[in-house]
Amino acid sequence: MHTRVVVATAAAVLGTAAPLLSPASGAGAGEAGDVGRPTVIAHRGASGYAPENTLASIDKAAQLGLTWVENDVQRTRDGELVVIHDDSLQRTTNVKALFPGRAPWKVKDFTAAEIARLDAGSWYSPAYAGTRVPTLTQYMRRVDHNREKLLLEIKNPELYPGIEQQTLKLLGNEGWLDRGHLGRLVVQSFSADSVRKVHDLKPAVTTAYLGKPTVAQLHRYARSVDLINPSYDSLSREYVASVHALAGPHGRPLGVFTWTVNDATTARRVAGYGVDGIISNKPDVVRSALGSG
Ligand code: G3P
Ligand code: CA
Repeated sequence: MHTRVVVATAAAVLGTAAPLLSPASGAGAGEAGDVGRPTVIAHRGASGYAPENTLASIDKAAQLGLTWVENDVQRTRDGELVVIHDDSLQRTTNVKALFPGRAPWKVKDFTAAEIARLDAGSWYSPAYAGTRVPTLTQYMRRVDHNREKLLLEIKNPELYPGIEQQTLKLLGNEGWLDRGHLGRLVVQSFSADSVRKVHDLKPAVTTAYLGKPTVAQLHRYARSVDLINPSYDSLSREYVASVHALAGPHGRPLGVFTWTVNDATTARRVAGYGVDGIISNKPDVVRSALGSG
């Protein structure tokens, strides 16, 4: 078993995400990206201000001057990749009204055409009535149009056999696996198996594991992931340092993007731990707290 251990200088640690992502695109850890200042990622888009995981939410992030957005990808009954967080359509659409007899309204039980009819904005605010659940193709094109960067989460992969390969195929078809785009993309999952599959299928893609392996387990993750992304409430300076001390599959120090931080005090605390990215529903609040906007 070979463990890559690196000596992490302050600059290497604090700028982890920048060198990780920059070779192909010039992307930095922060627009967030100054050394010592974490990348700020708009969680499910700017979901504190617009309905989550919609095109409106990534447009809002762009309006706020944020570059990085995060989303959740699942699959319809007829095999279309769509962007939505829950495995059920109930919370974030009007599916109950349109399809009252179809409880529990699972994404995997509806066709893409059926989902395209749903209103994914009214639950959030009448101002967003008529907003749709985007397909991943629509979403990637809007991310590109907005010149944004994407932390793409494969959600509930156990429900969707082959979703890793399918997602990579779509990304390739849309040009996101080209050299100019790779630095604008990270693929993550709560499933270590799923992330490993992505790495094995396309080693050039930057990957992240959502969760907090023990320090003793980290070296195994470092074979296939570039980032370890834990919840902020389980985090410590020592843990972040332990992650940074290992090199990932691309030979650079592992990074840490933490979630979901929505207030200034917590943002400053976790930034003090040395995290490389902060995922937030209110990314403008985090950015201001860190003195970058
Ligand atoms: O990106 C981190 C975060 O999205 C993980 O939690 O449930 O919001 O997908 P969840
Ligand atoms: Ca997510």
